[in-house]
Amino acid sequence: MKTIRIGIVGTGGMANGHAGQYRRIPRVKLTACCDIDRQRAEDFAARHEIPHVFTNPLDLFDSGLVDGISNVTPDTVHAEVAIAAARAGVHLLSEKPLAMSVEEGRAMVRAVRKAGVVNMVNFSFRDSSALQECAHRIAKGDIGRVMHVEGSYLQAWLPSKVWGDWRTRTAFLWRLSTQHGSMGTLGDIGCHLLDAVGFVGGDIAEISCRLMNFHKGVPRNRMGEYRLDANDSFSATLLFRHGGLGVAHATRWATGQTNSLALRIYGDIGGIRIDRDRSMDEYEICAGKDVDTSTWRTVKARRAPNTYRRFVDAIRNGAQEASDFVNGLKVQAYLEACMAADTSGGFVKVRLPSR
Ligand SMILES: NC(=O)c1ccc[n+]([C@@H]2O[C@H](COP(=O)([O-])OP(=O)(O)OC[C@H]3O[C@@H](n4cnc5c(N)ncnc54)[C@H](O)[C@@H]3O)[C@@H](O)[C@H]2O)c1
Repeated sequence: MKTIRIGIVGTGGMANGHAGQYRRIPRVKLTACCDIDRQRAEDFAARHEIPHVFTNPLDLFDSGLVDGISNVTPDTVHAEVAIAAARAGVHLLSEKPLAMSVEEGRAMVRAVRKAGVVNMVNFSFRDSSALQECAHRIAKGDIGRVMHVEGSYLQAWLPSKVWGDWRTRTAFLWRLSTQHGSMGTLGDIGCHLLDAVGFVGGDIAEISCRLMNFHKGVPRNRMGEYRLDANDSFSATLLFRHGGLGVAHATRWATGQTNSLALRIYGDIGGIRIDRDRSMDEYEICAGKDVDTSTWRTVKARRAPNTYRRFVDAIRNGAQEASDFVNGLKVQAYLEACMAADTSGGFVKVRLPSR
């Protein structure tokens, strides 16, 4: 079996997760990394035993040292790095959200289509075997026609120090400020939630949404250069293309909920509950004879390969997989519809991309 050579572009916090995952996969070699901050890239290379360091992504793509890359740059940089990689014929696993806008996302889709490279977006909750199995079971009709979906993504890092103090850590602070490119809770965790809701519930056709920015209790709602103006909570009502109804909400103000993503999907002949706090591999189902007694049974899902393994497999066998750039563009359209609905106060139609 051929060894797949991977490069990592952007060597900040999340890149360590990517490197750690690739290093666990047989016949995968981390051959190069790149960051505009040379020292950070060199420290990262030393930590993960990566032989080649670059400070310009274009030099990395031209080097011939990689088959594919993880694009772990900030959201504002995803598009330029991905488009350049595609032009150089390099396969791509890009961080979420796909882009900063639908327009940028479309350019990324055009670039990967033209180049014919494998393209994936890292919606990490798709690593849940429970989510993968439930999406499959719902698609084959195990709970019937989906009527109602309830999705929540709750974090606690504003009212607590559970992940460290946001007042002193830049990586948190930029997420609170639109002037630093943040789409707030909506872009940060809402994209995971809307991806997961769409994966199990089907395409979302219309959205109404309210975004909230609460005062953080610091003078002028500001920390140094950071104006704390990005949304930190949202609540959305969803109409699915097949006719079902849904609600999705997320916040960083959920005391006691470190990083909690939960879904409840109700069809006309059964229901499914997934709760990441309980398990990434187990879910609950109420169907068949259990419907009349409201009995929920816990099911252990078959172990599904994680995103990094699916990316490597896709490079090896040339088969594009479901969490691709077109799906990322769909999620981007959901994000834009949420923002437009917050402004208009009513339902907004989602402009779904075609495959
Ligand atoms: N999937 C998930 O669950 C998850 C979790 C956390 C972060 N993320 C995403 O990962 C991405 C990175 O987040 P992070 O927290 O690691 O950010 P970070 O700021 O810690 O790291 C980003 C790195 O990219 C570098 N960089 C910036 N522009 C560059 C360029 N043009 N070329 C090369 N390097 C460049 C920066 O110097 C920095 O070192 C973001 O898109 C974020 O949304 C995803």
